[in-house]
Amino acid sequence: MPETVNIYDLLKSGEAFLKSKNLPDAKSDAQYLLAAALKIERSRLVLIREQKAGEKESSLFWEYILRRSKREPAAYITGFCGFMGLEFKVSKDVLIPRPETELLVEDVLNMSKKNKTETVLDLCAGSGCIAVSLSKLGNFNKIYASDISFDALTLARENADFNDAKNIEFLLSDMFKSLENVKVDFIVSNPPYISEDEYNALEPELKFEPETALLAQDNGLFFYKEIALKASRHLNDKGRIFVELNANLSQEIKKIFEENNFKDIEINEDYSHLPRVLKAHL
Ligand SMILES: C[S@@+](CC[C@H](N)C(=O)[O-])C[C@H]1O[C@@H](n2cnc3c(N)ncnc32)[C@H](O)[C@@H]1O
Repeated sequence: MPETVNIYDLLKSGEAFLKSKNLPDAKSDAQYLLAAALKIERSRLVLIREQKAGEKESSLFWEYILRRSKREPAAYITGFCGFMGLEFKVSKDVLIPRPETELLVEDVLNMSKKNKTETVLDLCAGSGCIAVSLSKLGNFNKIYASDISFDALTLARENADFNDAKNIEFLLSDMFKSLENVKVDFIVSNPPYISEDEYNALEPELKFEPETALLAQDNGLFFYKEIALKASRHLNDKGRIFVELNANLSQEIKKIFEENNFKDIEINEDYSHLPRVLKAHL
């Protein structure tokens, strides 16, 4: 791009390029990526539309647009993602936090007594978006965040520091295997829950995300079965469980928790009216 192009023209040419590659949200992607390249809030773009873009910023924007045109998710391109009003670093080692998962966090916050005595385990913590949000927005005594991926936990730790979240202990563990001494009031989990058939039909963007964060054996049920079977050993009396659901499997998952003696099982829907969060207690 020539050095003298103004912000508006730069935005429009990026948008047109993404449209030509059939990106469904070309306009908002182009705005998001231009704001990131210019290191400004997206809402400021309109105010500076007549200003000239610098050469460095223009070429960074085009680098971002090219990556996005190959369907790389915008959050991996910029390295950041918003969740629960907080900012999280993301990399290809972690799943990009999803808006549906905010419902899981809100359910835990709503159930908490907020008296700073309660403890939480965020199982399959990934970027740490759940644990860090609970630490910042709730009033918990202690939060454990565990994951099988060392690289994910490293980023989760960075996200805790980045958001100044203090009461989180990070634990490397294959599900409950290294959590013998962890006993808490709430277990919250957004586990991998995509079956192999579902995985093959996913949008190209999801193929950039770690397979270990998405895929679950046993037709997507493996991790739900593990949690239902073993969570009770890690929950205090009347302890509660909150899991994000694969919407296609909600009734099967409910049955798994019923068979493992969980009580008062409730399923909440997400913004698209799909079953998304299962809550129950011992
Ligand atoms: C769907 S992602 C959820 C990440 C994050 N909690 C969120 O909501 O964005 C699932 C996470 O489970 C982790 N995981 C996969 N297999 C696991 C296992 N056997 N034990 C513990 N964590 C596992 C992955 O590394 C990934 O970070």
